[in-house]
Amino acid sequence: MRNIVIYGCGGFGREVLQVIHAINAEGPTWNVLGFAVDPGIVHPETVHGLPVTSDLSTFGDDPLPDVVIAIGAPAARKRIALRLGELGYIFPTLVHPGASLGRKVVLGKGAVIMAGASLTTDIEVADHVQINPCVTVGHDTSVGSFTTISPGANLSGNVTLAEEVEIGTGASIIQRISVGRASVIGAGAAVVRAIPENSVAVGVPAKVIRTKSDPA
Ligand SMILES: CC(C)(COP(=O)(O)OP(=O)(O)OC[C@H]1O[C@@H](n2cnc3c(N)ncnc32)[C@H](O)[C@@H]1OP(=O)(O)O)[C@@H](O)C(=O)NCCC(=O)NCCS
Repeated sequence: MRNIVIYGCGGFGREVLQVIHAINAEGPTWNVLGFAVDPGIVHPETVHGLPVTSDLSTFGDDPLPDVVIAIGAPAARKRIALRLGELGYIFPTLVHPGASLGRKVVLGKGAVIMAGASLTTDIEVADHVQINPCVTVGHDTSVGSFTTISPGANLSGNVTLAEEVEIGTGASIIQRISVGRASVIGAGAAVVRAIPENSVAVGVPAKVIRTKSDPA
């Protein structure tokens, strides 16, 4: 069994814990040491009976535990990954046994694939991508690093998501569409045209309502 720490103790952190429990039910794999949060963050002492700390080093360094970053916001996830990577932490790829992965599906380090997700074939998922429950990802699709795909979203074939994209719950993206870096697709949107970077797009069909440099 390898030691692992979940970075982030909120709702997604608890969901990632369930992924680890499900993996361990198939075969003992992970020894969960606890949860870590950023220094200065107010946090409970325990979550699901496991300790929470703002000092990751309390979990030891000989060897360093593996870390899964369980934070939904792409920019925060990237910041933490860069910092912890420089300290030598390793980020495993976690796949819920109830997810379906076809042939030639390549997953990056730190990627988390949740229950009921279906990735068919010839798909590239980059580092630290979060694919939530019941997401479908079609053939020849590429998902950039630190992107978050919310529950029930559907990506058709040949879709390209750049880095740090956020796809809202239940959104759909038709085939051969690209979404630019750091863009946000609203819950329930139907994306039928390419979305440029740093855009927030909502609706059916999805329209850009603002760019992220604009005030919200
Ligand atoms: C798209 C989104 C990011 C916009 O957030 P925001 O920038 O704070 O926008 P606002 O809430 O101020 O809404 C701006 C306008 O867009 C509309 N809007 C917001 N989200 C929308 C959506 N998903 N679909 C359609 N219209 C939407 C609002 O009704 C509002 O319209 P109005 O100006 O006519 O009143 C957000 O609403 C959203 O859908 N996020 C996805 C959440 C999600 O799926 N989370 C999953 C967690 S696991």
